Amino acid sequence: MFGLFKKKEQKKHITFDYSSLMVDMHSHVLPGIDDGAQNTQESIFLIKRMMELGIKKIIATPHIMIDYYKNTPETINGALEILKEELVKEKMDIEVQAAAEHYFDETFEARVNEEKLMTMGDNYVLFEFSFINKPPNAIPVIQKLNDLGYKPILAHPERYPYMDLDQFKALHNWGVDFQVNTISLAGYYGKESKRLAEELIDNQLVDFISSDMHHPRHAQALKNALKMPYLEKVMFDYPLKNSLLM
Ligand SMILES: [Fe+2]
Repeated sequence: MFGLFKKKEQKKHITFDYSSLMVDMHSHVLPGIDDGAQNTQESIFLIKRMMELGIKKIIATPHIMIDYYKNTPETINGALEILKEELVKEKMDIEVQAAAEHYFDETFEARVNEEKLMTMGDNYVLFEFSFINKPPNAIPVIQKLNDLGYKPILAHPERYPYMDLDQFKALHNWGVDFQVNTISLAGYYGKESKRLAEELIDNQLVDFISSDMHHPRHAQALKNALKMPYLEKVMFDYPLKNSLLM
């Protein structure tokens, strides 16, 4: 009897997918403009994997970084148009929009002041910190974002090991939403990021989850994450905001 029950439980984990999440709002699937998909073939491969896992809409968020990826709304929208043509050719019925993952470097504050940000949904702005240390001007710039009517979203907080729970709570209280990478829950970035992601979930600090899809290994990890109990917890016991971006 117990054996039968166990088999049923295992089956349950294999059958749910990302359908109820609806929107994946952090990915690097636009062709040839950052460290994600390098051409339309790679874009199509990644998007097919996301569709197979139940994702209904993709918001592509290429890096905007002063040092490595000097993207602008023009380069990003240009790559989006190329991808959209390819999706039509491939008869793939999925909505893809573009925003950006803004790197919190010395140019970010200027971009905020000039209101030159690429937003998603109702004025949400996705940004990431350095993996080494917290930017010293984080709070004033976040306050500025709020004052200008933007809604800041911090990408993958679980990947900043220099931050502790109190600092996360303070940032969240300043009005910053948190987006955890789904694949962190499968241990893709190691034990520490997995633990931090779980701690953020336990403390009701997660607002969005998304793939941060760059390449096929991420697609495989996204599939593997479906087996994780914390994924089930965050998707079904939690008021995630992904569907607001539909
Ligand atoms: Fe990213």
